[in-house]
Amino acid sequence: MSYIRLVNVTKQFGDVTAVNNLNLEIGKGECFSMLGPSGCGKTTTLRMVAGFEDLSDGEVWVGDRLLSSPKKHYYTPPENRNFGMVFQAFAVCPHMSVYENVAFPLRLRKLPKSEIDQRTRDALIATNLLKSAEDSPANLSGGGKQRVALARALAINPDVMLLDEPLSSLDPHLRTVFNLASRPTEIRFTSETDPNGVRGTVIRNAFLGEIIDYLVKIGDQEIRVQIGRRDPGPEVNEVCYLHFLRPFWYKVNE
Ligand SMILES: Nc1ncnc2c1ncn2[C@@H]1O[C@H](COP(=O)(O)OP(=O)(O)OP(=O)(O)O)[C@@H](O)[C@H]1O
Ligand SMILES: [Mg+2]
Repeated sequence: MSYIRLVNVTKQFGDVTAVNNLNLEIGKGECFSMLGPSGCGKTTTLRMVAGFEDLSDGEVWVGDRLLSSPKKHYYTPPENRNFGMVFQAFAVCPHMSVYENVAFPLRLRKLPKSEIDQRTRDALIATNLLKSAEDSPANLSGGGKQRVALARALAINPDVMLLDEPLSSLDPHLRTVFNLASRPTEIRFTSETDPNGVRGTVIRNAFLGEIIDYLVKIGDQEIRVQIGRRDPGPEVNEVCYLHFLRPFWYKVNE
């Protein structure tokens, strides 16, 4: 059953149609990615779901809650949605320490002091920032600032995490702290027409008894895929499309 539902969502900025009649359904627990060229409306869509941007038309639902509908005069402000959002241009406050940046939304929610401290520390550990807790984010690299934004979004225990290219400033080592993953046996080759298909190229395949073990390159990542030896699969150097059956996020313990 769908959890987040966008119904005929449209956003006009003057003459520019940033999002045109978008219909989207995302299940609870689903990790859903939007890919598209610059200017196609990804950020605008996320901002509308988060409540930072009004809709020109259409509706945004979460579960059985209608959050935005200009026609029905419905609008729930961001602070009442319990969503975490990491912005493309990471919005961290240079006048607060790293710790205070992460704790700030929890203080706004008036949580008990001990819970604020626990949640803040957990988020700082998860993003490898505990040692910078008392520093100003101004002294951190771009990737460091982005991790502060990520920690702040995680700390509120959000119902929905909205991530606008949140890992683009992280170096490859830190990207693996939160690893966009699937078991090799839970990836299938699919067709170009699959809307959830991710394009890649086969680097190698190896026959291992009952299974064929593939290495597929997607961007700068190499992904292992395993299928039954009788299942149809692509050849080495062939362009292919992967369907991730059960993608999940995991935290790598360093
Ligand atoms: N506040 C605004 N005022 C006017 N036009 C805007 C505004 N915000 C976005 N746009 C326009 O809406 C369109 C979609 O922009 P958006 O930022 O959502 O794209 P995007 O897919 O996130 O792009 P990128 O990959 O570069 O981040 C673009 O044409 C952009 O110029
Ligand atoms: Mg964007």
